[in-house]
Amino acid sequence: MRTQVGIVGAGPAGLMLSHLLHLHGIESVVLEGRGRAYVERRLRAGVLEQGSVDLLRRAGVGERLHREGLRHEGIELRFAGESYRVPMTELTGRSITVYGQQEVVKDLIAARLAAGGTILFDTEAVRLDDLDSDTPSIHFRRDGRAEELRCDFVAGCDGFHGVSRGAVPEGVLTTYERTYPFAWLGVLAAAAPAVEELIYANHDRGFALYSMRSPEISRLYLQVAPDEDLAAWPDERIWSELRTRLETVPGWSLNEGPILERSLTPMRSLVVEPMRWERLFLAGDAVHIVPPTGAKGMNLALADVALLGEAFAAWYGQGRTDLLDSYSATALRRVWRAQHFSWWMTSMLHRLDRDDPYETNLQIATLRYVATSRAYATSLAENYVGLPEV
Ligand code: FAD
Ligand code: DHB
Repeated sequence: MRTQVGIVGAGPAGLMLSHLLHLHGIESVVLEGRGRAYVERRLRAGVLEQGSVDLLRRAGVGERLHREGLRHEGIELRFAGESYRVPMTELTGRSITVYGQQEVVKDLIAARLAAGGTILFDTEAVRLDDLDSDTPSIHFRRDGRAEELRCDFVAGCDGFHGVSRGAVPEGVLTTYERTYPFAWLGVLAAAAPAVEELIYANHDRGFALYSMRSPEISRLYLQVAPDEDLAAWPDERIWSELRTRLETVPGWSLNEGPILERSLTPMRSLVVEPMRWERLFLAGDAVHIVPPTGAKGMNLALADVALLGEAFAAWYGQGRTDLLDSYSATALRRVWRAQHFSWWMTSMLHRLDRDDPYETNLQIATLRYVATSRAYATSLAENYVGLPEV
């Protein structure tokens, strides 16, 4: 099998790249280890920056997003019995849209298949070869058989546990990393959201986040221990903990309902540099991870491939190598801005150490500063909605 750009992974990064290449008349094949139903149901991020929404719309895949996405102009911060709304749109002129990652994935798969694109599901890439030649290849397994995809370039969009990053020779990549001593227990509930905007809560018992997917479905998160056992969290315990951490404003209460799904997400910050080696280009979670507090993961993945799409277009269209050569450095500027913002939000909102009241007082002082300084609130808001140029 042969194509121009071989893409490993059908997450937001790989699918969007394949779609953008198609718009430029460049062929690609996407290899995905999981089945279509699995990737279309995988519950993950939910917040799209304005830049991501604009990118999806410009690429002609924003129709359902426009119809069903929930546009938000602010977020609420709750802490120490106080509450403050960050008026994001008033401060920045920009907004965010709540639209599940799996909906973005469904829209992109539909667009690729409608255009005759090739996505090979249940197809696991096992090895990348000849990345330092003009004809790199991806070895993969499909229906129990070993096969090979030859291409001009490989895009490694296969997430944190993928095979691509490991194909770079030892000594080339540098890893910067931080792990946090907690995880998020995330639930999806058949309960109408009690609010129209997201609530980020700093509480003595740990962080809580109130989000949503639709007028009928709530999405909620609780800070828990990294080795928490989900079996120890029956519905009533989850609701009780959410009530304690979120019902801190007089007269406000949660809407409860059956819990449809629950999962545990470890919290990690990671950057691997550079994002390119020879003819291998890495994008999204394959090279950088952020803790979800800043809602940046999916947005960064889309921003990476927007750059890659332009870079491949310049190479195939005009024989230019400049954008391919500058891809890693350009992408890393945004990556590090998001790393800082995600670390900052995480540090401000979670109980880092239950026995450190000094740390807690610093958090409350920071949150009060956001609530009283237009300059500081603007800094949070412009990072949250996404900076157009970094
Ligand atoms: P992915 O979406 O991970 O896509 C990679 C794809 O590659 C997957 O489909 C995988 O099956 C496939 N793959 C892997 N290895 C191979 C192989 N060898 N061969 C073929 N295919 C392969 N972000 C937030 O902002 N908020 C959240 O609440 C949030 N929750 C998350 C929960 C979890 C459990 C995880 C893992 C991430 C979460 N994120 C969240 C982060 C966000 O979802 C990611 O940043 C985003 O998915 C990155 O997209 P991607 O395309 O780079 O990678
Ligand atoms: C959601 C996830 C996030 O990580 C976040 O910061 C905000 C919202 C969500 O899944 O809705």
